[in-house]
Amino acid sequence: MPAIKDKEVLIALMQKMYWLELQMEQMGTWEGRLEMMDDNLEALEILSHDSDRHGSIVEKWLKKASIQIPESTPKGLPNHILNFEGLSSPEMFSMIVKYEILALNAYKDMKNADPDVIKALFEKEDDLEEFFEDLEQLIRDEEKHASICKKQIGGYMKVKY
Ligand SMILES: [Fe+2]
Repeated sequence: MPAIKDKEVLIALMQKMYWLELQMEQMGTWEGRLEMMDDNLEALEILSHDSDRHGSIVEKWLKKASIQIPESTPKGLPNHILNFEGLSSPEMFSMIVKYEILALNAYKDMKNADPDVIKALFEKEDDLEEFFEDLEQLIRDEEKHASICKKQIGGYMKVKY
């Protein structure tokens, strides 16, 4: 994918990611409703907790760039992304991993955006540096999340008594 060269495209992507992280954080609410092995629960908890943290990071940058915080589903995202009803745990993590990879690619795209477009969002030099540091952390986390999911997909299920 060519680097983002349009400020509006970058803004829309940041808003979309804020919303996505918020939705991903919600997957923690399924913990009590699903019969899972401890290993699955632990994975879900990490993913949910990190998404909460990621949402706050993206929110920080939206605020610094004076971008509106989305209050409803941004264009291009379905209203309810995570519905695990009736899914086995490998199916559930197969669903989650798609969004982890989407997030990973989105943060990479943000990092690789045209530097002039990024500079236009944040005036301060310090902000620019911190923005890139945060994106690097987000990319590392999403890589970790994708591999956590893959491990759960590849595992086997046990019946919980
Ligand atoms: Fe994630």
